Amino acid sequence: MTSFDFTPLLAPGLPPPALKWTGFPKYNFTGGHNDADQVPLDALVKAANDVLAREGRNLATYGLASGPQGYKPLREFLAQKLKRTAGISCAADEILITSGSLQALDLVNGILLSRGDTVIIERESYQGALNRLTRLGVNAVGIPLDGEGMRMDALATALDDLKRRGVRPKYIYTIPTVQNPTGTILSEARRHELLRLAQQHGVPIFEDDCYSDLIWDGRRPPALHAMSQHGGVIHIGSFSKSIAPALRVGYIVAEWDLLARMLAIKTDAGSGALEQMVLGEFCPKHFDAHVPALTRGLRAKLETLMDALNEQFGTAAEFDDPKGGIFLWVKLPDQVDTSKLYQPALAAGVAINPGPEWATDKAYGKSRTRLCFANASHDEIRQGVATLAEVCRREFGVPARIANVERARA
Ligand SMILES: Cc1ncc(COP(=O)(O)O)c(C=O)c1O
Repeated sequence: MTSFDFTPLLAPGLPPPALKWTGFPKYNFTGGHNDADQVPLDALVKAANDVLAREGRNLATYGLASGPQGYKPLREFLAQKLKRTAGISCAADEILITSGSLQALDLVNGILLSRGDTVIIERESYQGALNRLTRLGVNAVGIPLDGEGMRMDALATALDDLKRRGVRPKYIYTIPTVQNPTGTILSEARRHELLRLAQQHGVPIFEDDCYSDLIWDGRRPPALHAMSQHGGVIHIGSFSKSIAPALRVGYIVAEWDLLARMLAIKTDAGSGALEQMVLGEFCPKHFDAHVPALTRGLRAKLETLMDALNEQFGTAAEFDDPKGGIFLWVKLPDQVDTSKLYQPALAAGVAINPGPEWATDKAYGKSRTRLCFANASHDEIRQGVATLAEVCRREFGVPARIANVERARA
């Protein structure tokens, strides 16, 4: 049977087609996955049983018995957790549960952005956020970061510059608490300055806080949403990094008039109910104990990754020791082009994120790469980095010879 040809019927302007999934590479340093051993299975199984036995009949109605904003017990848990950990005062009705925080990005973008608009974003940023802006035809102005997060002097200059050109940015998108990919945490002083600048220029802040639970010492500055005296901060978060990404549960904290706009374009008639019910049952009892166990395991994997990089790449791999998260942002020598390293590394079984895909300034990202360490085992991390060093040496001549080990022996 010949198949029907849809090609001439496809809508114009579609992005390139997705690649067919052929399984995970042997050494997978991409994708923001979590640690499989740390998924709190027993408690999730019990939560699923308990909540279904008690409230399962509510599955007969769209939105359970909680309405379109999502399962009420989960929103109530979030309201008290956000107060306790991030200082955010919000009611459960100022929270909208989304299908992952990716949908939260789409909803915020959906109500604010049009083709030709300008937004401000960290120079290194989440690929999913950058891709969305490109697809929407939005101009992304990148602000450099240092060890304390987004640089406020550069932000002030960019805002002044845009103002002079008559451009009012639609928002300042930031991942202030364990930034993706740099792993930095925006200091409290800079948070004040960011809020001041945003207020002065009449630009809202879009705060993406999905990694804020994954800080090694558990200490985080208050959320921008909490610190703002004038509103103007939309806060989003996710259970992907703290529990499991396959659940697809994220959320938006904003005032009702904004959520009302977002609900009007949220076309899925509610996010998946079962995962919301399970989280709503699991979290009040177990979230606080689960997170430190998770971060201890992640920190151990990060140590393995940093040791392996030091051993295999020596001084050819530069990185800062992040305060939390699931990835390391690594600078390789200038002659390395990580977009060109990607394919031969993959052929050898190692998947990496090429830096240019994680930066507004592609040249800046050229010799950088993001390595996710949560999902690989300690052995896979060690072997994967050794393989990556071999491929990098073959393709670009660096590292010259397993640097630290050679030097240590000399
Ligand atoms: C900064 C940031 N925002 C949002 C997301 C989307 O995550 P999810 O849709 O799984 O909540 C990610 C995922 O890696 C991320 O790194």
